[in-house]
Amino acid sequence: MIDLRIKSATWEAPNIVSYELRSTDGSLLPEFTAGAHIDLKLPIGMTRSYSLLNQQGERERYVIAVQRDRTSRGGSKWIHQNLKPGEIVSVNGPRNNFKVDEEADKSVFIAGGIGITPMLSMTDRLKCLKKDWELVFCARTRNSTPFMERLQSDARVHFNFDRERGGTFLDIASVIASYGPRTHFYCCGPTSMLESFESATVHLPRQQVHIEYFSAAEPPATAGGFKIVLAKSGLEIDVVAGKTILEALNDAGIVIPYSCAEGVCGTCETTILEGIPDHRDRILTEAERAANNKMMICCSGAKSDRLVLDI
Ligand code: FES
Repeated sequence: MIDLRIKSATWEAPNIVSYELRSTDGSLLPEFTAGAHIDLKLPIGMTRSYSLLNQQGERERYVIAVQRDRTSRGGSKWIHQNLKPGEIVSVNGPRNNFKVDEEADKSVFIAGGIGITPMLSMTDRLKCLKKDWELVFCARTRNSTPFMERLQSDARVHFNFDRERGGTFLDIASVIASYGPRTHFYCCGPTSMLESFESATVHLPRQQVHIEYFSAAEPPATAGGFKIVLAKSGLEIDVVAGKTILEALNDAGIVIPYSCAEGVCGTCETTILEGIPDHRDRILTEAERAANNKMMICCSGAKSDRLVLDI
């Protein structure tokens, strides 16, 4: 966890403000790769994850954009009201669950609203590598679209405004079908868009389909009835019904870093030394799940009586 200073705050679109964060002493920040996010630990007891939208390789700053969400549980509202230039905020990360495949012959990005943020960094990265890519950016109207100045002059960026005269929701299946079979597809946006994208890409090899989720796929595993063994101390903790592993550890006074508590950010990723987990996250690939050597303890449980964790 590091304390960073808000260098500037910039209005990007209605309800969307970008923030530039720098170290308090001029030192370089931890490196990040395109598609990464950081977690802001807010003094109101919440942690919120935001994608970095500046270029991979920049070490002197992180840039994020925050949309004030009407359905917010308070995090984005607090940020908009309180994070002003000069303020200090605690940050964890960066961490990347949405990496860009730099070897792909062709990459197509589909963004909805504030879901554009990781794609700004990802497309910048592919530009640097002189790779072939296109971006389809969906928003309600031109006037509600953030980062227009940055994007509108690039012929590889296509806009879809569904609330403008004659506008419709993007037909994602048609977009996917219009590209070659080796294309890599990326999607970040509202849940309805992610669901359409998942349906439209179900026939493609999984390594060509990349999704950034903001919410859990299924409820956390809270059936309990198994034991956690902490390999570093030998401590054994019972996970009882109604509790996740993370909660059981917290109850025992063991502090494990976490952020989303829904299996979408990766902060609580833990190495498994023995036992079979019951994966419930949206981060691990099918191959990673099958390997059973790491898990998100905020939401995943156990299929075996005992899990030995590298804690
Ligand atoms: Fe986010 Fe566990 S805290 S995946």
